[in-house]
Amino acid sequence: MTSKDKILEELKKCREDPIYFITRYVKIDHPVKGRIPFKLFRFQQRIVNEVHNHRFNIVRKFRQAGVTTIMAAYSLHMIIFERHRNILCVSIGDREAKAFLNRVVKMYDELPVWLKPKVTERNKSTLELSTGSKIKSQPAGAGRSESASIIVVDEAAFVKDFEEFWQAVFPTVSTGGKAFLISTVNGTANLYYQLYQNAIQGKNEFNAIDIRWQEHPDYTEEWAKSMKSSMPERSWLQEYECEFLGTGDTFVDGNTLRKLSHNISEEFSEKFTRAYRVWKDPEPYHQYALSVDPAYGRGRDNTAFHIIDLYSGEQVAEFCSNTISVKKLAKVIYEEGNRYNLAYVIIERNALGIVLFEELFHELAYENIYMDDKGQFGIQTTKIEKEKALAHMEDSLRRSLIKVNSNRLVDELGTFVVKENKIEAEKGYNDDLVMSLALGCYAIKDILENSPVTLDKKEAEQESLAEKIFRSEYQDKTDRMKEYRKWVLS
Ligand SMILES: Nc1ncnc2c1ncn2[C@@H]1O[C@H](COP(=O)(O)OP(=O)(O)OP(=O)(O)O)[C@@H](O)[C@H]1O
Ligand SMILES: [Mg+2]
Repeated sequence: MTSKDKILEELKKCREDPIYFITRYVKIDHPVKGRIPFKLFRFQQRIVNEVHNHRFNIVRKFRQAGVTTIMAAYSLHMIIFERHRNILCVSIGDREAKAFLNRVVKMYDELPVWLKPKVTERNKSTLELSTGSKIKSQPAGAGRSESASIIVVDEAAFVKDFEEFWQAVFPTVSTGGKAFLISTVNGTANLYYQLYQNAIQGKNEFNAIDIRWQEHPDYTEEWAKSMKSSMPERSWLQEYECEFLGTGDTFVDGNTLRKLSHNISEEFSEKFTRAYRVWKDPEPYHQYALSVDPAYGRGRDNTAFHIIDLYSGEQVAEFCSNTISVKKLAKVIYEEGNRYNLAYVIIERNALGIVLFEELFHELAYENIYMDDKGQFGIQTTKIEKEKALAHMEDSLRRSLIKVNSNRLVDELGTFVVKENKIEAEKGYNDDLVMSLALGCYAIKDILENSPVTLDKKEAEQESLAEKIFRSEYQDKTDRMKEYRKWVLS
């Protein structure tokens, strides 16, 4: 066989098998060993096979897995062996996108001459080859992107303005193109999380690829132990365990969020075109709190309320709608409040709250609206009161004093964050279910302290929510509760 034949045969092998091409011809810079051949780890081979066989891929990765390097090598394979491909690479910022391109360029430079198509354009943000294929780096927020046939997004969960970019560019690859999204996790308030969730549930065309640090040959249990002890738990969970929940800056910590998400219940009935979910109907002797955060019903914020069983702390019903008027809401609360043994209705005391209060109290004559110690209805909405209410909610959730059934609520808690001293929903996400729960937790504590809860005989033998709160926080009042219990049982 002539050397020309050999080259042709080798080119064919490389074209057909990107793993062969990479391990045989691509070189990388190792932080300790310097420039070395890119011998792919087993999990890295899996990634290459998956991205080669699927058009749309979304990778959830741990830190320093070598995924950026793999995508650089795979991109190089595409511009060498495919014709007229236009790869757009995007990363956290312009600098990172250019660094990605730079890796591709370095890999290209190290290839043997016979494997290198000629360069037709080369600058800081472009590498174009004589195959007519090129790779271009671009910051995500840089106005409208040019169309691409392949998109590579590195650290997608951290890219600013990723949603705008995605909306503009994804349509250009959706017919015939390819997309590769790679990221370390960053909480749940981003498009990367949504695309990943939809991918694993089969709701979009993406192939989800998950890798674990245990698959990396250099990462041992010993290594994990020493890493864990030298970084905050939240960072470990985010960067190496790839946990979505409670990473980022969530107000409620990751452990609590995970516990909540394990305990949600899909067994509910629905009313009012799915806005209202009921997990448990009223029990004859129980008392309930209904805490509400009203909105204008014009499609922006949601009106939300929860009904909580004061005996068990369980969320038994939940309402969430962005189209209901205040008048109609008052009717729903009137009916459901009455159905739940004349539940305490807890309203936020703001402009809309006043309208709701007037409807409920004056028009419908609802009789059990929560009043504060000054005899005013509801909860005042100053920043301090709100933060107090949120602190109560966090405490109640962490200590499992409140049992949450709703996935809608857990989702909201996952995007409810502390940033620059503000506690609020991430941009583009709602906090109405969270805020109405916080109001409820705040008032419930007050209700339980000041008015003993009606208990039914059987359940009174177990410890009630009221007692749990009293026991841990108000030891002196436990005796009062016991007295009361005697009275109930007698
Ligand atoms: N198979 C391999 N053998 C040796 N070194 C490797 C291998 N794969 C990657 N590396 C090296 O590991 C380091 C991390 O690689 P890379 O930056 O691609 O990882 P990453 O997953 O993108 O990391 P980050 O989380 O920082 O974005 C680099 O120095 C790279 O050269
Ligand atoms: Mg990387």
